[in-house]
Amino acid sequence: MEWRDGPATVGFAPVAPRIVGGLCADGPCQVASEEGNGAIRTTLSHGSTAIDTDVEIALPPKDRLEQDDEWCVAHVDGEWRQVRFHDYDRIFEVEGLYECIFYDVLRCASPAFVRGELERELAGAGLRASDLRVLDLGAGNGIMGQELVDLGVASVVGADIIPEARDAAMRDRPDVYDGYHVVDMSDLADDERRQLADERFTALTCVAALGFGDIPPEAFAGAFNLVGDGGWIAFNIKDEFLNGEGSGFSRLIHRAIEEGTLEVRSNERYRHRDATNGDPIHYHAIVAVKRGELQVAD
Ligand SMILES: C[S@@+](CC[C@H](N)C(=O)[O-])C[C@H]1O[C@@H](n2cnc3c(N)ncnc32)[C@H](O)[C@@H]1O
Repeated sequence: MEWRDGPATVGFAPVAPRIVGGLCADGPCQVASEEGNGAIRTTLSHGSTAIDTDVEIALPPKDRLEQDDEWCVAHVDGEWRQVRFHDYDRIFEVEGLYECIFYDVLRCASPAFVRGELERELAGAGLRASDLRVLDLGAGNGIMGQELVDLGVASVVGADIIPEARDAAMRDRPDVYDGYHVVDMSDLADDERRQLADERFTALTCVAALGFGDIPPEAFAGAFNLVGDGGWIAFNIKDEFLNGEGSGFSRLIHRAIEEGTLEVRSNERYRHRDATNGDPIHYHAIVAVKRGELQVAD
């Protein structure tokens, strides 16, 4: 089988990884949960946007890795390469690799889940999605943006800190974003701030992007403060960042709730995705209304 010549020869894997994702040569095929040396293949389509590509990945042995240290190997252009999950620049360079790792193999449910939560709360408030002008923070290659378009929002503008994310969004979902800014939200230049303020956002989404050396509290607060009062805030965050002592997000969010800046309409714990060993990783999806400016505590 092809993989016997693949991951086993990759020096960093002490045990041959399990191949778990890829596109069958004949097109999309069923996910099978074959253990050990068997190849397990899965379709690379996600939501309404199918990514037509041909990548395979192999996960490391089943030992639990900290979420921040997770990696796999990917078979791309005829060679196996190691990919750390937080090396988004390298992942986005390969069309379909992000979807293959996080959606097809690790079954990430977050964009659809957060969209569903937002949809329900808007309906409960008697509002229409078509009134929302959304800033999608940590937009990546546009999976959440696609959910928002499918929901029927008036406009969605993406923001991400790496140019590779914008390039991938333009390649993979060119019709989703009405604008896409490569910026550091915690340190906006004056002209960037003016351009973003001109959008008069009525909502912020931030999915699978808070914590873990990704978006820090200062950047989240910067994006939050670009939304008008009464605007909708929909985001997800890992259990331990929301509730853990010493977490900057925990302090920021709990203080905002106490002070009334964040009027929480729903807070649901759910399975965000699988870890590489198959354990569930739980996040909270929060939908709230903005009632003032967020201040990051010293
Ligand atoms: C896991 S991806 C999520 C992408 C998309 N929201 C989704 O649900 O598919 C996390 C994204 O956050 C971006 N990111 C990390 N740190 C950031 C920061 N400080 N400001 C803006 N984006 C950041 C990464 O570049 C990456 O595109």
